[in-house]
Amino acid sequence: MASSIIIPDGYPFEGAHLEEVISPKEIQDRISQIGRDISKKYKGKIPIIIGVLNGAFLFMADLVRHLDIEFEVDFLKIDSYGDSTKSSGTVRLLKDISADITGRDVIIIEDIVDTGLSLTFLKHRMEEASPKSLAFASFLYKPEVAKHDFPIDWVGFEIDERFYIGYGLDLKQIFRGLPGIYALNEENT
Ligand code: IMP
Ligand code: MG
Repeated sequence: MASSIIIPDGYPFEGAHLEEVISPKEIQDRISQIGRDISKKYKGKIPIIIGVLNGAFLFMADLVRHLDIEFEVDFLKIDSYGDSTKSSGTVRLLKDISADITGRDVIIIEDIVDTGLSLTFLKHRMEEASPKSLAFASFLYKPEVAKHDFPIDWVGFEIDERFYIGYGLDLKQIFRGLPGIYALNEENT
């Protein structure tokens, strides 16, 4: 059942309302569909699945458990938001992958595509290493703001321009453990 949380005193954005927009059940149903689709597409292959830290860690953990193919995992970390709720406009690579992806099938796992800047940065960065194929899965997608000139292969849910937290996504590094997705209603702050 949809629920709403008021951020308690002492936390960032205290008093702001968090409105549940995607339930844990909806999340798991959608991820199982994406998992089936990825398994079909990569049947007989062993893709390297690369999670973008920190936000994508729960999506990736749940997604791989819906795969019935073999796969490798790796991680990288980038930052474009700092602790803000707006993109800074530049992307920094904070941790690189350790796998050699040359000639491999690569799937990048993102938590959310907002401006599309991180996604475009990742595409260029990965292509420098000449993978055999490169695909993208993003749990959330903001179609009204996202700008990129290539397709995203799997999108969990399309959402509006508000700021979203939970299920791996943070507000100043906290609230990543909320089991559903919540929208931050900033007019209450
Ligand atoms: P982009 O480069 O603007 O597409 O932003 C990508 C990154 O910004 C995401 O991977 C998130 O880490 C962060 N981000 C963008 N929108 C949100 C949001 O609504 N909630 C939490 N993090 C967000
Ligand atoms: Mg991210």
